[in-house]
Amino acid sequence: MKILLLGADGQLGYELHRTCATLGEVLPYTYTGKLSGRQACGQVDFSVEGAVEALVREHKPALVLNAVAHTAVDRAEDEPALAHRINAEAVGELAQACQRLGAKLVHYSTDYVFDGRLRRPIREDDPTGPVSVYGRTKLAGEQAIADSGCDHLVLRTAWVYGARGQNFLRTALKLARERDEIRIVNDQVGSPTPARWLAAATALALARNFQARGTWHVVADGECSWHEFAHAILGDALVAGVLERAPKLVGITSSEFPTKAKRPAYSRLDSSRFARDFGLRLPDWRVGLREVIAEIAEVRAG
Ligand SMILES: NC(=O)c1ccc[n+]([C@@H]2O[C@H](COP(=O)([O-])OP(=O)(O)OC[C@H]3O[C@@H](n4cnc5c(N)ncnc54)[C@H](OP(=O)(O)O)[C@@H]3O)[C@@H](O)[C@H]2O)c1
Repeated sequence: MKILLLGADGQLGYELHRTCATLGEVLPYTYTGKLSGRQACGQVDFSVEGAVEALVREHKPALVLNAVAHTAVDRAEDEPALAHRINAEAVGELAQACQRLGAKLVHYSTDYVFDGRLRRPIREDDPTGPVSVYGRTKLAGEQAIADSGCDHLVLRTAWVYGARGQNFLRTALKLARERDEIRIVNDQVGSPTPARWLAAATALALARNFQARGTWHVVADGECSWHEFAHAILGDALVAGVLERAPKLVGITSSEFPTKAKRPAYSRLDSSRFARDFGLRLPDWRVGLREVIAEIAEVRAG
């Protein structure tokens, strides 16, 4: 099976490249035309009208994995047109191209399509209500896929991180090395989800039921605040020898740490439907954290 992988050097794209090689021949594309190891690969810019459609026409893949997104949540408030272009318009063009060809599209969306006011794990059919440009453009991407009528798997996930890329864990470790005190928000709750687990869940879902079509929530089990996540990161990093000393951690409210974009206060997603339909429930986020810290320790040990 020919698989077109878009965004192969992002957090998730990197892991999909490794994992989905078990499903077929993967054709990786990135914005720079290079993979993270600097090898050359295909080049695509989602901001260029017609670019993704041309790729689908050229390669005629059976499966398209889209890991591209404008993920800079605060920056998106300043560049809404670009965020909409990448997260919605280009996704619509991609979905229409998949529909014409009969290819399956796997796409990722976010907990930020919700407003965060529900105080129980959020299900697929709970009402959406994004409170940021990022959330609104990601929701528009989902709608464009549904409107195209293409065969699709939309996986909504949250708080994605890993040993590489730009994410909260790497920022927390960096700050911990530089500062004596770190202030972290304690009134936003979600489920930190390793990119590697999400890639594995994608490959497994496709292998178990390629015909499945629709939207699923997929996150690690359990929930925590950013403050609790940071506390666990520093604790595990100390034990693994990734940090020599931990700074003081201070919990603060979102109002004490104003950001350009508003974020939902509670965005734990309920992954039961994914567990029911694909027979896989991701383990607790603390297990994922230990795995990612162990990976970082291994890389540091050389
Ligand atoms: N990160 C999270 O916490 C999170 C949470 C919920 C859902 N998600 C969703 O999960 C998916 C994967 O996210 P991720 O964490 O892997 O994000 P990421 O690491 O930021 O990767 C996004 C990729 O998109 C590429 N990209 C951006 N603009 C592009 C353009 N104009 N043309 C082509 N490529 C472009 C980026 O390339 P450059 O790096 O070269 O710009 C990057 O490789 C996305 O759909 C995201 O919305 C992520």
